[in-house]
Amino acid sequence: MKTADSSKFPSWFFIVVLVSLRSVDLSSALGETQQCVDGTYEHEGVTCCLCGAGTYLESHCTTTQPGKCTSCRERTYSSHPHNQESCEPCTSCSHRNANLEENVSCTRARDAMCQCKKDHFCSSKETCILCYPCKECTEGVKVSCTATNNTVCSEKTEGGTNTGLIVGLTVPIVLILLGPLVFFWIRKTQP
Ligand SMILES: *[C@@H]1O[C@H](CO)[C@@H](O)[C@H](O)[C@H]1NC(C)=O
Ligand SMILES: *[C@@H]1O[C@H](CO)[C@@H](O)[C@H](O)[C@H]1NC(C)=O
Repeated sequence: MKTADSSKFPSWFFIVVLVSLRSVDLSSALGETQQCVDGTYEHEGVTCCLCGAGTYLESHCTTTQPGKCTSCRERTYSSHPHNQESCEPCTSCSHRNANLEENVSCTRARDAMCQCKKDHFCSSKETCILCYPCKECTEGVKVSCTATNNTVCSEKTEGGTNTGLIVGLTVPIVLILLGPLVFFWIRKTQP
């Protein structure tokens, strides 16, 4: 019995060693892919890790060296994993006369967002580049000004301004046309 057992030992041991070697191999391979939390890309036949949000690629990986990712510089950002060699410049809300203000500030991993200043509305429904002051109503507001729509004033106000405009234009025209006639008529009737 004893001799039979010891003769079996080497082959059994060999299998255990092989299996454990393989599992060591597997775990180290898994370990490498797990290090690439943001995914991978190919560079000159080598699989490299993508750079995460908030960083940019400083150097590609090689067969012997891991790649290098560096934090985005001031006023730049990257919001998704990538392998670009720079970050995107942050959106600015401070263009002159644009009437915009920053409502979401820029970080390394997120762009800034702009919204219209108070009492201003944007003409476009997508990214706003320019905001206009909301119309002020003298009579009353029918629909309040929103971020995308101008104020709608009550009908009365608009009717009033139209009548005023018609009167304002008609009276001078009538006076200009009738003035000379009246003048000559007065001169004729006077002895
Ligand atoms: C900031 O403004 C934009 C529109 O310009 C809007 O889509 C976004 O929801 C706003 N975010 C916050 C946090 O107010
Ligand atoms: C803005 O006005 C348009 C029509 O001019 C309308 O279809 C839209 O619903 C309005 N949006 C808001 C937010 O009031």
